[in-house]
Amino acid sequence: MAFRFVHYEVNADATKPKHLTGDITMKFFVDTADIDQIKELLAYGMVDGVTTNPSIIAKSGLDILEVTKEICSIVDGPVSAEVVALDHETMLAEGLKLAKIADNIAVKVPLTWAGLQTCKVLSDQGIMVNVTLCFSANQALLAAKAGATFISPFIGRLDDINLDGLELIDDIRTIYDNYGFETQILAASIRNANHMSECAKIGADVCTAPPNVIKAMANHVLTDNGLAGFMADIKKAGIKIL
Ligand code: G3P
Repeated sequence: MAFRFVHYEVNADATKPKHLTGDITMKFFVDTADIDQIKELLAYGMVDGVTTNPSIIAKSGLDILEVTKEICSIVDGPVSAEVVALDHETMLAEGLKLAKIADNIAVKVPLTWAGLQTCKVLSDQGIMVNVTLCFSANQALLAAKAGATFISPFIGRLDDINLDGLELIDDIRTIYDNYGFETQILAASIRNANHMSECAKIGADVCTAPPNVIKAMANHVLTDNGLAGFMADIKKAGIKIL
């Protein structure tokens, strides 16, 4: 896999990497409906948005409308809430209902023809749409054409079947940059800290990960060993600051 360290704003100044213009930031979304965990990570500046899906809502045991409303009240950034119908008309009605919860709702639709149609209609109304369950570059291309705000390629589930989830992120980055698509790559199904740093190297716009994965990014055995050594010396020398 060829890693690229910056991506380019084709529509603006194609010669200038976005990281040099200062207008790019990697966003962290938290993939959970657990309010306590969201609040905890908010205190660290690690929450630029939240993603949920029917499995996460089912696990929470909470009502989708109520828990989504509560998340929207504590998080400023986009909060993805997923439709549960399969046909366009019902998906659209559900999407419009979800969008009424708060201004920061991103309606999540599956990458099917009905989902793409719903994406187009909602996007045309200025509603943020997250197209989910993306497993190929062609699917990501269709979502961008349909006006998606976010495309959610699932890394872990591709890795599960011996395909390369990170390679898909890289392919979508190339395609979107080739044409200046504004759809943001929201890397999903992130299972470990390595996925996070690899997505950052490729230039994914957003990573959504469970709280434990975000916390695991802080871990390093040499940090633990180094701190143990410092603590031993602090004790031996009786060093005090306060
Ligand atoms: O954001 C999608 C994510 O929740 C799916 O993750 O681990 O079930 O593949 P996973």
